[in-house]
Amino acid sequence: MENRPDLVFYWMGLAKIGAIGALINFNLREKSLLHCVQAAQAQCVVFSEEMAPAVADISRDLPMSCSLYYMGGGQCPVVGAVSLDLLLKKSPTFTPPAPITKFTDRVFYVYTSGTTGLPKAAIFSHSRFYYMASAVHRMLGLTDQDILYDPLPLYHTAEGIIGMGQAFLWGTTVVIKKKFSASGFWDDCLKYNCTVLKVVQVWRPL
Ligand SMILES: *[C@@H]1O[C@H](CO)[C@@H](O)[C@H](O)[C@H]1NC(C)=O
Repeated sequence: MENRPDLVFYWMGLAKIGAIGALINFNLREKSLLHCVQAAQAQCVVFSEEMAPAVADISRDLPMSCSLYYMGGGQCPVVGAVSLDLLLKKSPTFTPPAPITKFTDRVFYVYTSGTTGLPKAAIFSHSRFYYMASAVHRMLGLTDQDILYDPLPLYHTAEGIIGMGQAFLWGTTVVIKKKFSASGFWDDCLKYNCTVLKVVQVWRPL
């Protein structure tokens, strides 16, 4: 799915039940998209309505055992996909019992950009997530009073792990954006009262 808060809630939910998420670049189509799903040996694909045409293009080449879950209103445009919204309405709302994952278990796969050949999946464990996000938290002196503007794609390390990790681990507010805009950068920072300027001040002496 494109950059949206739901994506983050999916990782969290998947991690809680011990499933590994594969964070796939939403710009990929056809051969490279299929490759990423196959490389992760995905047992299911969760996609939002804006990605339905891209999933429809590759759905015939996926193994029969790979389930498709569609999130969004209305009729699902991909044959064989199940509406997640309907399933969620019928699902229990209580928190799963104790976490079944360990600190060193895999939490998700993040892909290389694929500029030289097809994207390759890099393994992220819970401990690696914690380590990377904590390093940046320390380095920039962020607190739970900070508001971090983080307009990059959520499927990449910089946003998904280093950025979102600030919210998960340290309570920093993170502003995400559907699509990066260089011309809108500072306007957004002002609009959302971001403290990024603080980060620039931390870096200046270097
Ligand atoms: C930003 O701060 C101003 C002044 O405190 C406040 O009025 C405004 O609601 C804040 N904006 C957001 C998006 O929180």
